[in-house]
Amino acid sequence: MFKKLMNQNVLDMHIVSGFEMKQKAKIFEDQGNKVIHLELGEPDFNTPANITQAGIEAMNRGESHYSPPLGLLPLRKEIAKYAKNYKGIEAKTENIVVTPGAKPILFYTFLTFVNLGDEVIIPNPGFPIYKVLTKYMGATPVPLKGTEENNFRITLKDLEPLVTDKTKLIILNSPNNPTGSIIEQKEVKAIAEFLRDKDIIVLSDEIYDRLYFGDEKIISIASFPHMQEKTIVLDGFSKAYAMTGWRLGYGIMHESIAKAFNPLIVASNSNTNTFIQYAGIEAYQGPQDEVEKMKEGFKARRDIFVGGLNSIPHVSCVIPDGAFYAFPNFKWFGKSSDELTNYILENAYISSLPGSTFGVDLEGYVRFSYATSRANLNEALNRLESALKKVKS
Ligand SMILES: Cc1ncc(COP(=O)(O)O)c(C=O)c1O
Repeated sequence: MFKKLMNQNVLDMHIVSGFEMKQKAKIFEDQGNKVIHLELGEPDFNTPANITQAGIEAMNRGESHYSPPLGLLPLRKEIAKYAKNYKGIEAKTENIVVTPGAKPILFYTFLTFVNLGDEVIIPNPGFPIYKVLTKYMGATPVPLKGTEENNFRITLKDLEPLVTDKTKLIILNSPNNPTGSIIEQKEVKAIAEFLRDKDIIVLSDEIYDRLYFGDEKIISIASFPHMQEKTIVLDGFSKAYAMTGWRLGYGIMHESIAKAFNPLIVASNSNTNTFIQYAGIEAYQGPQDEVEKMKEGFKARRDIFVGGLNSIPHVSCVIPDGAFYAFPNFKWFGKSSDELTNYILENAYISSLPGSTFGVDLEGYVRFSYATSRANLNEALNRLESALKKVKS
């Protein structure tokens, strides 16, 4: 009965998420096997103690009431300062919208800008939510394909031919989930110049920009001339500060877009949890050495894990520039991505995500999140190598 009554667009939503794969892995754990979890995209580190303390103190002070829909003013001020220092964006508090996690910024962007029949250009490989929301709005997802030959780095040359008079929104994500690849600064500049006179909204998903392992400073596309007014920057505290469960994120956008988001927030969640926003203030005001330490930790794990993957016969993996994901190519083994993740789970007790979840033409790829201990990563590499040996023998 319910199916008949439900909105078809909701029925059509399907996401193979880390949460779903974790559930699948539980069957093997219940049988007594030690599963190594490389499916969920979250840091295994604890939230830095000073941030947790600020949240506790705010709760104890009684900061447990409704607060402004767009966020507490002191937090919006801190984010505006941060935007200048880390991203090169001249933002004021009016440009900042605080949300429970960064994902709602995606939702509000789609609800505000995307109509039936529009085209939305999305990174491929890319975060599956982009496609799901595009389809939910009755728009067409247009894959912006990064190639393994170019280390999955998107260029203007890849983007330019995809833009039509139906293009409403372009999503960029650097460093990227699931490849960890960045868009090089010269390409960001070229893309900004190409888009500066076009009536197209850009959503720049910068949730992993603090977890970039290179020397070149990452500068937001919003910092280029004429781009700030048409770009919505998505960012938050989940990944850089190991705060996935707190749910604290934000967008940086033109004041009139922030105003348009206001009623959507009032109609959905009213405001972001009030005492958690004080933890966010501490995250940006307090010492940053924990973030640096976590980043170095991820970089060391990348070197172990991706180095290990590349030493397994017939496996190749692009070296990620940032984030904590590896996206190896297992095409030689002749299995689809779903078959591969099932095979790896059943034979090596490693939980991962199929590459095909991240876009079109991605059969034969798998995404691993290497945000786990070095011991787990070494064990996973050993198990993987032994399991793969059996595939064609
Ligand atoms: C590319 C990308 N954007 C946005 C998000 C959402 O982050 P949050 O957990 O803060 O909502 C994620 C989380 O996995 C992500 O990978």
